[in-house]
Amino acid sequence: MLNFATQIARDAGHLLVQRLGSAKITNKGDINLVTEADIAAENLIIERIRSYYPQHGILAEESGEAALVGGKKSEWKWIIDPLDGTTNYAHGYPCFCVSIALEHSGQLEIGVVYDPMRDEMFAAERDRGATLNDRKIRVSSVEELSQAMLCTGFPYNVRERPDFAREFTKFTMIAQAVRRDGSAALDLAYVACGRFDGFWEDGLNPWDVAAGALLISEARGKVTNYKDEPVDIYNEQVLATNGPLHDAMMCVLT
Ligand code: IPD
Ligand code: CA
Ligand code: CA
Repeated sequence: MLNFATQIARDAGHLLVQRLGSAKITNKGDINLVTEADIAAENLIIERIRSYYPQHGILAEESGEAALVGGKKSEWKWIIDPLDGTTNYAHGYPCFCVSIALEHSGQLEIGVVYDPMRDEMFAAERDRGATLNDRKIRVSSVEELSQAMLCTGFPYNVRERPDFAREFTKFTMIAQAVRRDGSAALDLAYVACGRFDGFWEDGLNPWDVAAGALLISEARGKVTNYKDEPVDIYNEQVLATNGPLHDAMMCVLT
């Protein structure tokens, strides 16, 4: 199933690259965009899952929770963000990815995040570790916030959440550097491989988090909410770190 997931993420990623710069853009909300490429990539992924695993459940950003054949319930659920980083994509800013995860009875089994611009495939399987282009990855070993490169994201309702500005300012004054790249799934993958040492965001959706959360736990990092409880991908809050920085980051957030 991991090979299946990486193959569809790769194919969807290539579709995104082919349409970069020409996909029609519409607004879902004030600052929340969707492009023809989001929809086309999602359709490609769903059609592929439907033909190989017709009994599996699907939760995808643009089409929501799919109805199951014969109204049956499935223990399996594919969680899909066909294009994470849509605003970047719409502006031609080359930082976006495809994120696909598979849950079994509520437990994450597989997670893949594919960056088609850099041809980087992040993949994880429960209890089998995480890889980047087939090489094992681990989180960083940085222990001090003053040495840490952190990342965050602003959800689409950021204007109703003034906390973001406060947190961003605080971390900027303490950490070595803070980035805001605009693709939560890629940000989490970067924590998993040690490029970032920590990531925080409140206001995420399951499709933003599912694959990245598994990548980080398989790369021996830590993913919780802001209260140090194990991450629940259906709950918006995520604090993801290499482990040693977790408490220090939580102190800033609470
Ligand atoms: C968004 C990105 C962004 C994050 C937002 C997400 P989208 O996803 O991951 O970095 O800050 O909260 O909604 O809309 O580009 O798939
Ligand atoms: Ca997303
Ligand atoms: Ca998306």
